[in-house]
Amino acid sequence: MPRRASRTTLYIEILHAFFRKAFPLTALHTLFQRAQSPLTKVPGPWYSKWTSLVLTYHWLRGKRAQYVQHLHEEYGRVVRVSPGKVDFSSISGAKRIHSFNRPFLKTSMYDVFRAGNGTNTMFSTQNLDYHARHRRLLSAPISEASLKNVEHIVQARVDLAIEKIGLDMKRYGAADVMKWWIFFSTDVIGELTFGDSFRMLEQGKINQYARDLHEIAGNVGIRIAFPRLIKLASYLPLPLFSRVYASSQRMGFYAEESVLRYERMIAAEPNNPKTTLFTKLFNASEEKMSRPEIIANSQSYITAGSDTTAHSLTYLTWAVCRDDAIKAKLARELETLPDGYRDEDLKSLPYLNQVIQETLRLYAAAPALLPRKIPPSGCEIDGYWMPGGTEVQTQAYSMHRDSQVYLEPERFNPSRWESPSKEMKDAWMPFGGGARICLGLHLAQMELRMATAKFFRSFPNAKVSTLDGFNDDDMEQVIFFLTFPKKKRCLIQASEGC
Ligand code: HEM
Repeated sequence: MPRRASRTTLYIEILHAFFRKAFPLTALHTLFQRAQSPLTKVPGPWYSKWTSLVLTYHWLRGKRAQYVQHLHEEYGRVVRVSPGKVDFSSISGAKRIHSFNRPFLKTSMYDVFRAGNGTNTMFSTQNLDYHARHRRLLSAPISEASLKNVEHIVQARVDLAIEKIGLDMKRYGAADVMKWWIFFSTDVIGELTFGDSFRMLEQGKINQYARDLHEIAGNVGIRIAFPRLIKLASYLPLPLFSRVYASSQRMGFYAEESVLRYERMIAAEPNNPKTTLFTKLFNASEEKMSRPEIIANSQSYITAGSDTTAHSLTYLTWAVCRDDAIKAKLARELETLPDGYRDEDLKSLPYLNQVIQETLRLYAAAPALLPRKIPPSGCEIDGYWMPGGTEVQTQAYSMHRDSQVYLEPERFNPSRWESPSKEMKDAWMPFGGGARICLGLHLAQMELRMATAKFFRSFPNAKVSTLDGFNDDDMEQVIFFLTFPKKKRCLIQASEGC
């Protein structure tokens, strides 16, 4: 016993000595490194050289993007936002960071986007070969050409969404379009991914699945800020983190269940399965993906393809309804459509497309940091040397608010896209860029065109409602990785008198 006690004492002594001696040394070493780093030449507030606390504080408020934009306004297009992180809001910087040929790797932040089964997805992976294989396998079915085959599915869901919105407007005086656009985009991506929609539009009510979807954008923020606590929450009862963890596990479970249902469908009709964005990958004669990979990627389609499109549609509806001149111009153009118009007709409507482009500028759904890691050899960007391991990032929020590129950047003005300058086009990056550009961008734009056209043909006089105290403040953008309106609702009425 005394022997054990003395050994324990010895261990404690050693640990104590380590922390007494080594910790201050490590801290000193870190301070020395920070003072010597080539990043000291990068403009930014004094504290960003020493600590990331201020940045984290703004992140937790859902205001990091706005804070970084404020830094760009003060310090220019290249700004050091924390000891190891630099944000670029220049076109040249964005092209270098998100290049096609020499892409920098995504950072470990993307680990939180792994699927519920722990498998990497095309979205989350930091491995170039894994990404290239997945991108090759998944691209063709979601290309612009292939999507023509699923237009009828999108149209059917648009029609049902508008019917439901109309019913709510009649019944309650206003409809929460945000709720219906989430149901719409989830049903579309569900049907295209799993061969069967989640029937959210039919049910029209907030069940557990709808709640999980509604919370994706906020939960992602918490998972990025506290990745370790989320992992711990699978073992320990940590109320907030356990809730976020449980929600992401359920998303994985929904995906697994849906894949299982689709496999049963294929087994029942092996020669004529309902085609989905994943059908070919189940086919033994083609190059296959493993089952966990299919489940993981289909889960990431739901996350990447529901809130993003829904929140864009929500801001579009609200921004147009607030401005009578914009609304009237859009409604007039939509009146020129023939009966039984197709998406191809919508592509050729200039103003409709300008409205969408302007929405994606001012209210980009993923407007915050897209972080990448500088390779070990380091590199120069915009005249500043970035040592290996530095995290460089761009945020569409700032690229889209550069007053030297976009006149009056805070104004929602679709007409600015009538004859855009080269800079305007190059700085517009709501879908990211380079090798990791959004895979679903054609689907997203198709949904935006079809839903907007049908909405403003059905409700050409729609107005923002003041029912239940709804006002502009409710639409303030909260931004973690994705953006959403502060009060998570958007009330619209059919016309002035309603
Ligand atoms: C308006 C709607 C949308 C917006 C604004 C948007 C935005 C983005 C952005 C900014 C990225 C790049 C992320 C990064 O570099 O970290 C991205 C990637 C991605 N998006 Fe979207 N997205 C939208 C809709 C969709 C839809 C409908 C899908 C459906 C499948 C989708 C699937 C993906 C996938 C799979 C990636 C990863 C691509 C890769 O890493 O190669 N997105 N999206």
